[in-house]
Amino acid sequence: MSNTNHVKIHADPLASKKEAWSGRFSEPVADFVLRYTASVNFDKRMALADITGSLAHAKMLAKCGIISEQDHNDIQRGMKQIREEIENGTFEWKLELEDVHLNIEARLTALVGDAGKRLHTGRSRNDQVALDIRLYLRNEIDQLLNLINQVQTSIVELAEKNTDTIMPGFTHLQVAQPVTFGHHLMAYVEMIERDRERLLDCRKRLNRCPLGAAALAGTTYPIDREFTARELGFECATRNSLDSVSDRDFAIEFCSVASLLMVHLSRFSEELVIWMTSRFAFIKLPDRFTTGSSIMPQKKNPDLPELARGKTGRVVGHLVSLLVLMKAQPIAYNHDNQEDKEPVFDVIDTIRDTLRVFAEMVPGIEVQKDSMRKAATEGYATATDFADYLVRKGLPFRDAHEAVGCAVRLASERGCELHELSLEDLRSFNDKVDEDVYTYLTVEGSVAARNHVGGTAPEQVSLQVCEWKGRLASR
Ligand code: ARG
Repeated sequence: MSNTNHVKIHADPLASKKEAWSGRFSEPVADFVLRYTASVNFDKRMALADITGSLAHAKMLAKCGIISEQDHNDIQRGMKQIREEIENGTFEWKLELEDVHLNIEARLTALVGDAGKRLHTGRSRNDQVALDIRLYLRNEIDQLLNLINQVQTSIVELAEKNTDTIMPGFTHLQVAQPVTFGHHLMAYVEMIERDRERLLDCRKRLNRCPLGAAALAGTTYPIDREFTARELGFECATRNSLDSVSDRDFAIEFCSVASLLMVHLSRFSEELVIWMTSRFAFIKLPDRFTTGSSIMPQKKNPDLPELARGKTGRVVGHLVSLLVLMKAQPIAYNHDNQEDKEPVFDVIDTIRDTLRVFAEMVPGIEVQKDSMRKAATEGYATATDFADYLVRKGLPFRDAHEAVGCAVRLASERGCELHELSLEDLRSFNDKVDEDVYTYLTVEGSVAARNHVGGTAPEQVSLQVCEWKGRLASR
């Protein structure tokens, strides 16, 4: 069991400790600690937000007479060059400078001297990072809102082609009542719309400027926080310095909104997977959204929906990470908060990619109308319509329910559908049944009859589609 190659025996316990340390780890302690604490490898994603924030801060410092106009000009000139270096990839990121903030500040000082050193007046990395992540996230949210619009548009367009396509509606994944496919699709448009509203709401709450909170208590300089807030497009400056640097609730809220969005897209994914099986055969996906199997030549796997479903777990996981990250932190800033970045970034990337997948995949969905309709005509999906028919003929609903239950039992014993029973058979359950019953037992009659706001009738779905097209086009 023992691996003698790795066991060393030392006379001097101190020497042994040192050697064990250096023997087992491939880098000196200082390097390891640096790597453990540094965030630049991931927070450099916020570099442009950091520069934007610094420029607004410098402008405010100059306006308030805290730095000179000359310093302000130097800072602007230096930041312009830094931005170019970052954009063309020549900026040299240094791990020993820990994070994006110190890297940029050090480079600024190297470029413009003392003005660079004055930039940090009246500010701390604590309010700086609280600002950067808000700026970064706000920009990403705006892009995500666009993508959400695209996904909704692609679903509405597919619904428009399927306002009268009949499919079985399910409860408990058992055939329940016929619905129109357009109606089913529009359910996702409504779900995603609530995600959009939540995202806008989250944007509203994060859109307040923490700069000026400094390390935790505010600053002794005569700063103008509302000026900086306005410069950066925030609604206002935050009202409590301790809260401003310490809470990451906006990031948690964002991940929570994203989790719900992913849960919705995951449910859609699950349905696409089911609909693609040969048992359902409701839809086909173009080859570019599927892959084959390395061993089973007949396979066409729904990889994209499966991955979207799988990635939902990862987004929900990040939400939980952030909640746990926050839960025992005393006020105000703690270094724990540095751990908020990677989950937030990964959530952004994951929902952006997943939304793109849907925006591109939904228009490619090929609807197998015949098998959808066939599935809706099997499984007594119009039983409720038969009961409603009897109620209109004067029967109390419970009695009608009972009569139709018996009719379903007979049909099932005979291995046929309700509309395949003879008028004589149907009459045996209740003598109020007439020839006209057959129009209500068809799937077309069933969906057309549900013609009210929110109902599945083709007429209603067309109205919804029309309303949504107008709404989406005007955004
Ligand atoms: N990299 C840090 C973060 O992401 C910046 C703030 C550091 N502040 C400090 N007092 N060490 O949170």
